[in-house]
Amino acid sequence: MIKKETEEIKINITKPEDINIEILEKRDFKWNKKSLLSTRDLLKEEIDLILITAKSFSEILTRAVKKVPTLRGKVIINLFYENSTRTRSSFELAGKYLSGDVTNFSVSTSSVKKGETLQDTAQTLIQMGADAVIIRHQHSGIPFQLAKLMPENISLINAGDGTNEHPTQALLDLYTIKEALDIVSGRKIAIVGDILHSRVARSNIWLLQKLGMDIHVCGPPTLLPKSFSDYGVKVHWNLNDAIKDADIVMALRLQMERQSKGLIPSLDEYHRLFGLDHEKIKLAKKNVKLLHPGPVNRGVEVTSELADDLNYSLINKQVANGVAVRMALLYLLIFAAGK
Ligand code: CP
Repeated sequence: MIKKETEEIKINITKPEDINIEILEKRDFKWNKKSLLSTRDLLKEEIDLILITAKSFSEILTRAVKKVPTLRGKVIINLFYENSTRTRSSFELAGKYLSGDVTNFSVSTSSVKKGETLQDTAQTLIQMGADAVIIRHQHSGIPFQLAKLMPENISLINAGDGTNEHPTQALLDLYTIKEALDIVSGRKIAIVGDILHSRVARSNIWLLQKLGMDIHVCGPPTLLPKSFSDYGVKVHWNLNDAIKDADIVMALRLQMERQSKGLIPSLDEYHRLFGLDHEKIKLAKKNVKLLHPGPVNRGVEVTSELADDLNYSLINKQVANGVAVRMALLYLLIFAAGK
């Protein structure tokens, strides 16, 4: 349950108007965002509204019939140039639970393989009547380029661009953290692993800073340049220092596909120095919670025993919360913007 820092509103969501009245009209600021490309430019009020809306939508996920008509007639296109298990299916289900028409545009079988440009892909999506496009791309910055090619009335959501940002992951992480802790301001989070290549780390840094979290990042020097301290976070190359007295430990996936040769001596060495297990996590606070955006390299970032220990691990909750958070985002960006 979201507590204390975020207001709770109990609503009966059957019609779009219900949400509009119960959530949006109770607020003293207007939701104006049509797209979400980054957590950098999110206002605190916007973050708060996303979390409250997600909390309301999470109730739908407990129903026998998980369907409300909120986005009936709206076209949502998943445009994934890079592999995904969680994010793509989470957006697909979120759109379907809200009665949107969701299409998965499979890049591996599309004309992109025949050399179609981003501009032509954008035109195609516009002509097909897209209301929202969710894009993941292996290169940083592509969602921002696509935004310049699309009219402003089409919502664009960054589902991960290269090493740059993954804003919806950070928002679902925050939702999960707020479920676990009464207050997040002043609480210590240690983000551990391949920080250099992590869009999840960057989006979380921008987001959690706004909420006043005490952010520590940790990894081997080859995967964590000292310059990260310019982001206002504390940099550690020693795991014990980073996780000592932490309220939250977030392990990051070691991104094999983005490693240039020689950044780590071996996976065994990485696990010995930076992998989390039941022994090492004892340095953190007694009730510490473990997050991981997935997919988990078991035995590398974290042992299987710890990843599956529900006394610590919120990994499954992150996945479930991801659907509610993405429902909230689709609703706010497509339906509520400007209302
Ligand atoms: N967390 C995350 O982005 O997972 P996927 O790559 O499976 O979408």
